[in-house]
Amino acid sequence: MTTSRIPGFYNLPLAERLDKLAEAAGLTPEELAAFNSGGLTSEQADPMIENAVGTFGLPLGIALNFLVNGREVLVPMAIEEPSVVAGASFMAKLARTGGGFTASTSAPEMIGQMQVLDVPDLMAASMKLHEHKAELLAEADTIDPVLKKFGGGARDLEVRLIEESPIGPFLVVHLIYDVRDAMGANAVNTACERLAPRVEAITGGRVHLKILSNLADKRLAKATCKIPVKELEMVGQDNILSYGGERVRDGIIEAWAFAATDPYRAATHNKGIMNGVDAVVIATGNDWRAIEAGAHAYAARDGRYTSLSTWGRDADGNLVGELEMPMAVGIVGGATKVHPAAKAALKLMAVKSASDLAEIIVSVGLAQNLAALRALATEGIQRGHMSLHARQVAIAAGATGEQIEKVAAQMVADKTVRVDRAEEILKSLK
Ligand code: MEV
Repeated sequence: MTTSRIPGFYNLPLAERLDKLAEAAGLTPEELAAFNSGGLTSEQADPMIENAVGTFGLPLGIALNFLVNGREVLVPMAIEEPSVVAGASFMAKLARTGGGFTASTSAPEMIGQMQVLDVPDLMAASMKLHEHKAELLAEADTIDPVLKKFGGGARDLEVRLIEESPIGPFLVVHLIYDVRDAMGANAVNTACERLAPRVEAITGGRVHLKILSNLADKRLAKATCKIPVKELEMVGQDNILSYGGERVRDGIIEAWAFAATDPYRAATHNKGIMNGVDAVVIATGNDWRAIEAGAHAYAARDGRYTSLSTWGRDADGNLVGELEMPMAVGIVGGATKVHPAAKAALKLMAVKSASDLAEIIVSVGLAQNLAALRALATEGIQRGHMSLHARQVAIAAGATGEQIEKVAAQMVADKTVRVDRAEEILKSLK
């Protein structure tokens, strides 16, 4: 893709937006069709879950302007909330002026847990597990030949002692498994179930739970960005400067400090990050509950829930941001390979590995966080929200086509965004 900047995309009719995507990413008519009506037929949904009766649609939008590690990316986002796609696109545009997003990932290592109960001697069992580590890893390594072929497999074994619990002390064995381009739950769960009898024989205990941990803190993704302070200036009506760049930058840092120190604010701050993260996770058919669980557990890893991102200023006065969080996403297996829209979404971003995808997602999370903080630190969140909300209210009142913008604009000008007012305006238009 030559550029993720498509000026005027917002104003194009839907069909022309699809043409632009086809042009930019070489999507075929079938792939574009997958973006229509959720992209999944009832027949395709049927074998995916039990008792299927149909599918459930969400709006799919494209975030523009993203430059991630020097690569142009058009980002598909499945989300019902207005302002999110626009916010991400606008912040990606600002970030471009500072070189875009720089992102990286650790190795795609997931953690599988085995809970070992009824161990006669916890210390001795722990030592024995360490003695048998190489043998246990070798056995776990044979479980998924496909992962092995692509360079994945068992990496390490850790033993933890839970000294106090409602059922007394017990051991926990962590199997660290490199899952390459998979989300990894299946491989890790299978490996834990397979190792359990050996762990029982070695420890003399009973392996109770055998399951992946969603606190995937060995599979992290990190994004950073730098926004030149000049780009943060906000100009209002008649070209009058309403907020200087320094003021916006410092306001964003003050807003972040609130989230860094107060869990009540941190929950909302991180929710804003997840607006961006989840939207891409869902659009690519990945497990957003796993990502949510990992994100919030990671945010509380030091015993106090805090912000997932950090914002500050560099020596030149630029605003600098960083987001690091677990990112257990895959591009093989599960819905990523069965859901036609998820397949098209992956093709649109031209991701070659799960790490590529994780790097894009964490960049979108950082952009989304910036959009929220910038709005909150200046004119407040409602102004931007209102105009989009007004469109939805206009539609609810029966507006169609060009009427939608007209009714919405009038309601925003009146500062009254309600269905009854929309109906009145609509009547006056007719
Ligand atoms: C709303 O969906 C998200 C925000 O509340 C995030 C934030 O407060 O940082 C605007």
